[in-house]
Amino acid sequence: MSSADDTAAPDIVIFGAAGDLSCRKLLPALYMAHMHSRLEPGTRILAIGRQAWSRQQYLDFIDARSPAFIEPAAMDASVWGAFLARLDYIGLDVSDAGAYAALAQRQLSQGLRVFYLATAPSLFARICEHLGSAGLIHEGSRVVLEKPLGTDLASAQAINTAVARHFREDQIYRIDHYLGKETVQNLMVLRFGNAIFEPLWRAPFIKSVQITVAETVGVGSRAGFYDGAGALRDMVQNHLLQLLCIVAMEPPVSLEADDVRDEKLKVMRSLRKMDLAAIGRDTVRGQYGAGVAEGQSVQSYLQEEGVPAGSRTETFVALRAHIDNARWANVPFFLRTGKRMAKRHSQIVIEFSEQPFSIFGSSPHHRPNRLIISLQPEESIHLGMMVKEPGSGMKLHPVELGLDLQSSSDKRRAEAYERLLIDVMKGRLTHFMRRDELEAAWRWVEPILRGWQALEEKPRPYAAGSWGPAASSALMAREGLSWFEES
Ligand code: BG6
Repeated sequence: MSSADDTAAPDIVIFGAAGDLSCRKLLPALYMAHMHSRLEPGTRILAIGRQAWSRQQYLDFIDARSPAFIEPAAMDASVWGAFLARLDYIGLDVSDAGAYAALAQRQLSQGLRVFYLATAPSLFARICEHLGSAGLIHEGSRVVLEKPLGTDLASAQAINTAVARHFREDQIYRIDHYLGKETVQNLMVLRFGNAIFEPLWRAPFIKSVQITVAETVGVGSRAGFYDGAGALRDMVQNHLLQLLCIVAMEPPVSLEADDVRDEKLKVMRSLRKMDLAAIGRDTVRGQYGAGVAEGQSVQSYLQEEGVPAGSRTETFVALRAHIDNARWANVPFFLRTGKRMAKRHSQIVIEFSEQPFSIFGSSPHHRPNRLIISLQPEESIHLGMMVKEPGSGMKLHPVELGLDLQSSSDKRRAEAYERLLIDVMKGRLTHFMRRDELEAAWRWVEPILRGWQALEEKPRPYAAGSWGPAASSALMAREGLSWFEES
């Protein structure tokens, strides 16, 4: 371990350090940061878990799990050994105020202290309170809050209020890992670093926007959490709304955190509230049945371990949203996300309006211009255009101009968590959610949750490995549109 005399070197204290997120994402991300010398010398990682383990037992536990989540080419036994040397473990019951003495004994850094709360959000308030009472929060402290932050507006407000008793807003880093993805950050550059898009990036030049985050995985071992949440809380309230904000926001004054977050907040506040009629008409809930995902037969959501019999939790959502402002008047935004879908892909499709008049008459090959931004697993930008079909006559032929972002640079592309952890260490808040932004997202989502309850909406079944319930295609077809992969 690094020397405790190094009192100014940063400390990263991870609560929930034996949990799934820590093993799969946080420790691999910190390892990569360590490997690329992005952690300051002397940085300690203090892992906190419930188990009364020795340091060596914790290291053995991590050693058996985390390397599987590190790119094989980046795994190096001696670097891994040096990384583990940064780690210490403290087994403590985070609900027990007295237990924090064990943390205090480690003599936390006089410089930067990062408290990463990767526990259930119901523990956030208590952990902050006990850290405060134990005198462990100082000027150089920052707290990172994992999603989901609450289950509705009131619970999110309660957590935010409790955390704010101990940390100023500029010390609070609310993570949405989508904001750490290279391609998501690139969206800002695409929009604001290229003069050709901005004049067209509005009504009436854009006809519709589609945002899809499709996963092939099922609920896995997370039924305990997921069944109480569902896709709207798990994905739409955060990841999809953040993508929508970046697509729709006005150019921020600068890249400073509050300038960007002010613009995202305005988008959230301009989202048209859905009443019961709109919820019935413009939202689709689905739940996967048995089927074939990535070539394997898979069971239905209801058969997954830990899912209560007869659960009505949605594993799929499609909806049509409107942003009531001058830029986006009458442009529908279609959002869609689901588990066990046909293909893992996250994509934003900007469909431009038709020309007011075509000198080519009507052609069966004619397609509207579309900008297709693939976020994952492919990282690419394609622009669908019309060209002339070779030969006599003036027949139209659709083609795509394509840019593969992965091959456009040799530079290493860090994973979202590594990038965001480095931002926390450097005090950069731009890619984290501010309190008002997060609460505005809940203000828009909560009526949908309530509306579904009032309408007693049962999720529509869809076969695992499909694109979701037929009603999702119908939502688009009503307006003469279709999801990109169906067109
Ligand atoms: C998490 C959700 O926030 O994002 C998961 O809780 C989901 O249910 C995951 O699987 C998707 O993240 P990614 O980076 O794999 O698209």
